[in-house]
Amino acid sequence: MALDVARVRHSFPALSGGIAYFDGPGGTQVPREVAQAVAETLIGGVSNRGTVTASERRAESAVSGARSAIADLLGCTPDGVVFARSMTQMTYDLSRVLARHWGPGDEVVVTRLDHDANIRPWVQAARASGATVRWVEFDRATADLTVDDVRAQLSERTRLVAVTGASNVLGTRPDLPAIVEAVHEVDALVHVDGVHLTPHAPADVQATGADFYACSPYKFLGPHHGVLVAAPERLESLHPDKLLPSSEEVPERFELGTLPYEMLAGTTAAVDFIAGFASTVGDRRTRVLESMRAVEEHEETLFERLLEGLRGLDAVTLHGSPQRRTPTALFSVDGYSGREVYEHLARLDVNAPASNFYAIEAMRWIGLGDEGAVRAGLAPYTDVEDVDRLVAGVKEIAR
Ligand SMILES: Cc1ncc(COP(=O)(O)O)c(C=O)c1O
Repeated sequence: MALDVARVRHSFPALSGGIAYFDGPGGTQVPREVAQAVAETLIGGVSNRGTVTASERRAESAVSGARSAIADLLGCTPDGVVFARSMTQMTYDLSRVLARHWGPGDEVVVTRLDHDANIRPWVQAARASGATVRWVEFDRATADLTVDDVRAQLSERTRLVAVTGASNVLGTRPDLPAIVEAVHEVDALVHVDGVHLTPHAPADVQATGADFYACSPYKFLGPHHGVLVAAPERLESLHPDKLLPSSEEVPERFELGTLPYEMLAGTTAAVDFIAGFASTVGDRRTRVLESMRAVEEHEETLFERLLEGLRGLDAVTLHGSPQRRTPTALFSVDGYSGREVYEHLARLDVNAPASNFYAIEAMRWIGLGDEGAVRAGLAPYTDVEDVDRLVAGVKEIAR
């Protein structure tokens, strides 16, 4: 099934302004359906979660609805879905809980490829516990990170490996099932940062075998908050600091304070919106998988066009050429800083920012420093005209 891009675009009020948005890896635009679900939750009568009044039940169903939606998106169980303010905040929280069981002699493995949100919390928690940090490096030219790169840092002392599902700057998609298998062989846990992968490919967290998988709905057409998923039994075994009267149940035990019901309703609407791309009439999980396959295909085709266009410009350097990748291009233009290219494109109503995008270890590792480079990422609403406008805009200055 091919993605009907014109139909998809119709649902995004932001696209009527004529901007070509390539900044989806920083946060996608949002369809009308998501905004409406947020607004309706806020104005439709909502109280704290409960079962007595209708407004309490609305809050309750916003939470349970979003857990089911995320379970259908990621292939996990609703009871293993934890909501947080952001992936960063959740990873800090989780790192502190897990680090209670670490000490001198233990090892925690992070990668140079990851966003800092899947590095620094682990590095700091390791330091506080006395554990040692080991770094997985990746090929500077291709940007590939292999299972052997990970294996080289594993030992019987490894307690946790934090690895990305996809790099938010280079697009690299490491072989997750193989990495998880290698990590499990030494009896360690795997925390996968799925923030950049989830918007671009069908997800099956249970099949991947990851112990923890994090993502952020604002990267896949939803509102701003974070998600962590794990097997409920895994969550049962952990005891984060929490308030005395708050629930001991899982996953509530991990959710500090009152949840953002309106955001959760928006996240359910985002998953329903994605499921709506499908042509089948099966259950939501089946439709999500079909939709995400169509998104992947659509983005791959457009990405080829984008790469071809940029490769045709001598003054453009494309960074990395990983074997499996998301539709995420990182590039520089001779004679211009990333910031100048970014500003030039912005004047043409093409949004493609330049930064390190918080993948600061990766940027330093490949020699781009803290300034980074220009990033162009595709989304389900990106069309051929957007891509051609980006390439034409770069061509104007790439001599
Ligand atoms: C790959 C990746 N991981 C983690 C994050 C952090 O997510 P959050 O903003 O939800 O903390 C981002 C945000 O850009 C990201 O791209």
